[in-house]
Amino acid sequence: MSETLCNNYGTEEIVKLRARSTELTRCGPLLVLGRDGLPGPTSSRTLTPTDLAADRKQIVRTPDLTNACNAERLGAGLNAPFVTLIRQFWSPLSSYPILCEQGQRKKILLESGFGDTSDLMQALEGASLHMQTSYMLRVLRANRLFSTKKPATAISSSTSARRSSTMAAQHEAAILPQQGGPLSLGKRPTPEPGPNDVLIEVKAVALNPCDHFQRDYGMPPVPIYPAIIGSDTAGIVTKLGSNVKTAPGPGSRVIAFASSFYQNGSPDHGSFQKYTLAQSEAVIPLPESLSFEEGAVFPLAVLTALTAWTTIGIPLDTKYTPADKQAVLIWGASSSVGTFAVQSAKTLGFTVYATASPKHHDLVKKIGADAVFDYRASDVVSQIVSAVKKDGVKLHTAHCVVDGALQPTLDILKETKGDAPAKVAHSPLLPEGHPTLDNTQITFNFPSMDEVARSKHINEVFNGWLKPGLESGKVVPSPNIQIEGGGLGGIHAALDKLKAGVSGTKIVVPV
Ligand SMILES: NC(=O)c1ccc[n+]([C@@H]2O[C@H](COP(=O)([O-])OP(=O)(O)OC[C@H]3O[C@@H](n4cnc5c(N)ncnc54)[C@H](OP(=O)(O)O)[C@@H]3O)[C@@H](O)[C@H]2O)c1
Repeated sequence: MSETLCNNYGTEEIVKLRARSTELTRCGPLLVLGRDGLPGPTSSRTLTPTDLAADRKQIVRTPDLTNACNAERLGAGLNAPFVTLIRQFWSPLSSYPILCEQGQRKKILLESGFGDTSDLMQALEGASLHMQTSYMLRVLRANRLFSTKKPATAISSSTSARRSSTMAAQHEAAILPQQGGPLSLGKRPTPEPGPNDVLIEVKAVALNPCDHFQRDYGMPPVPIYPAIIGSDTAGIVTKLGSNVKTAPGPGSRVIAFASSFYQNGSPDHGSFQKYTLAQSEAVIPLPESLSFEEGAVFPLAVLTALTAWTTIGIPLDTKYTPADKQAVLIWGASSSVGTFAVQSAKTLGFTVYATASPKHHDLVKKIGADAVFDYRASDVVSQIVSAVKKDGVKLHTAHCVVDGALQPTLDILKETKGDAPAKVAHSPLLPEGHPTLDNTQITFNFPSMDEVARSKHINEVFNGWLKPGLESGKVVPSPNIQIEGGGLGGIHAALDKLKAGVSGTKIVVPV
């Protein structure tokens, strides 16, 4: 039986808890960090190397859990001592799943003693989790600490009963062998689709910032290595799972959101390979008028742009009329997510105020913005406030698509909302101690962690919005497409280009 160490924030003692669950026992120590990352009498305690060195002596390393969690990015949403902890002691801590509890969650954890993992799960999920804790639950689940589902199959398993006997036995993949990469070409077994899966021959993939975060930092969590990352693809349907009712049949050209992140890290899902599985709700026809490269630009950017609306309580079937005078501010409109924030804002009936570099103003106007402003202009806030007042519309809603958007957005809302409540969706992780504004709800934009609710939402996004939008021509590929060569073997270098920064382009790699 292994021992669980718990740094009990607030009492300055290390609480040793016996892991009574057989599942926990299999997985070794679990380090639970308090709100400021260390035991201590106050949350303002400053972290020093000596503090952690002392703690480390108490902790038994578990090589099995190497790569279970990379908390560097996780730390971005937490307070300064925690971030320091992660930065200073990255290497020793990376061997542990780190569960960051807050407030009463700490109590739940301590009192539960991990005796009953299902109760613990329920208690945690009922506590309307902080996003980062939700991430960690996913990691823990994927590492079979709280396994309510069949775990994903690791790449090294060649004995899976689900492997196809009729199709090519193996296919090429850009495999992420460990955190930090590099992505390297390799072969892996081609899977049979599960009941709700669609097997797709990948023809083009598009890249997103989370792909290089996952490659370099293992965040969003990559619970299984070797891993297959990537999510955006266009290709041809090869086979449908037994329960699939709505997705296009074999031979159809499709757009698909094929993400291992939402499938417990399953490497059979993940777009950076020649054959991938995607959940059927996220597979829709690719119109004949669009190339595979054009089709690949939609999935994650569209999902993120539309999730922002529901995150702040605006249903996707909203249809404001000009008489409603509803306006929205989209800060970062030339980004991939931003362009679909603009396109979707128009379908919902908003008057759209947007920011982008001047060289992209035409692009942003063409896809539906009513007015576009240079975010680097020193008087951009007053320019937008004046335009809103002149137009006589109600600006109480905003989507901060990029880092650095929140402060100017709040400065604008302060002038435009009056006494009305305002809502802001924030796509990058919200920084600790971020600015706030009276009567204004600021919410990190992220789909539900509940699988049923998320699948319903994904269906509404892809089948309810994107599919009809493409059929009618109201939704178009955006922003400009930047093709990078090299096939699957070129993805690593293409991700480096994305990491270095893009301006009004989406990087796509034909496969
Ligand atoms: N929460 C989620 O689930 C989720 C999902 C996907 C993405 N994201 C996050 O959403 C953000 C956008 O992702 P993306 O793929 O759309 O990014 P992207 O296309 O790589 O973003 C590049 C664009 O950002 C614009 N930009 C940079 N700084 C700006 C600023 N201060 N003000 C206005 N525009 C600025 C640039 O505009 P110009 O070229 O015009 O200067 C450029 O066109 C990222 O932070 C990403 O991590 C979150």
